[in-house]
Amino acid sequence: MDDAQISGDLSRVLFTKDQIAKRIAELAAEIDTDYEGKELLLVGVLNGAVMVMGDLSRALKSHCQMDWMAISSYGSGTQSSGVVRILKDLNTDISGMHVLVVEDIIDTGLTLSYLVGNLMSRNPASLKIMTAFRKPDAAKNAVDVAYVGFDIPNDFVVGYGLDYNGRYRNLTSVATLAPHVYS
Ligand code: XMP
Ligand code: MG
Repeated sequence: MDDAQISGDLSRVLFTKDQIAKRIAELAAEIDTDYEGKELLLVGVLNGAVMVMGDLSRALKSHCQMDWMAISSYGSGTQSSGVVRILKDLNTDISGMHVLVVEDIIDTGLTLSYLVGNLMSRNPASLKIMTAFRKPDAAKNAVDVAYVGFDIPNDFVVGYGLDYNGRYRNLTSVATLAPHVYS
C-alpha cells in the first residue's frame, strides 16, 4: 500500500519506501562486516518486525537463519509496562549462536530489556539488537542497541510493519496519522 493511496489518513510521511530501503541496506552492510565468518540467527519480534526482517535478511550478503517470537508488552493502557508475556517462543535453541534481535520500534525499551534478559539466560554466543525505529524515551532504559535505522520524535507512527488497531502495517512508508483516524 502506497502512501498516495491513503494520503487522507496520513498527517505526515516521516520516511519514504526508498529512504527506508537505503537505510536498511546500509545497516545490512555494517552487519555483514561485523559478523564476517559467523552465522547469524535473526530473531524477529512479531508482528511488527515482519517487514524489516524481510528487507534486512535479503539485504545481507552472508547466510543467516531466522526465527520468531511473539510477545505482548502493553497491558491495558498505551504505555509499555515492562511486564511481558511470551505468546510464541523461538523454535531454535540459541545456546552458542550469534543472535541479532530484529525489532520494528523501540519506545521505552522496557519490552526489549525483558527480552534481552530472557534470551541471555539461554546462553547465546552473542546477542545484539537491531531496530528500524527508535523513540527518545528509549534513552531512559539503558538498552544497548547496536543498529538503529532511524531515531524519530515521540509521535505514534504507522507503516512498515507498525499498526494502528491492526491497520497500516502494509503501508510502504512510515507516517503519522491524521487526527480523524483516531476519532
Ligand atoms: P516499549 O515501550 O516497551 O514498546 O519499547 C515497544 C512496542 O510499543 C509499540 N509501539 C508502537 N507501535 N507505532 C506503533 O505501531 C508506534 O509509534 C509505537 N510506539 C511503540 C510497538 O508494539 C513496540 O514493539
Ligand atoms: Mg503495535
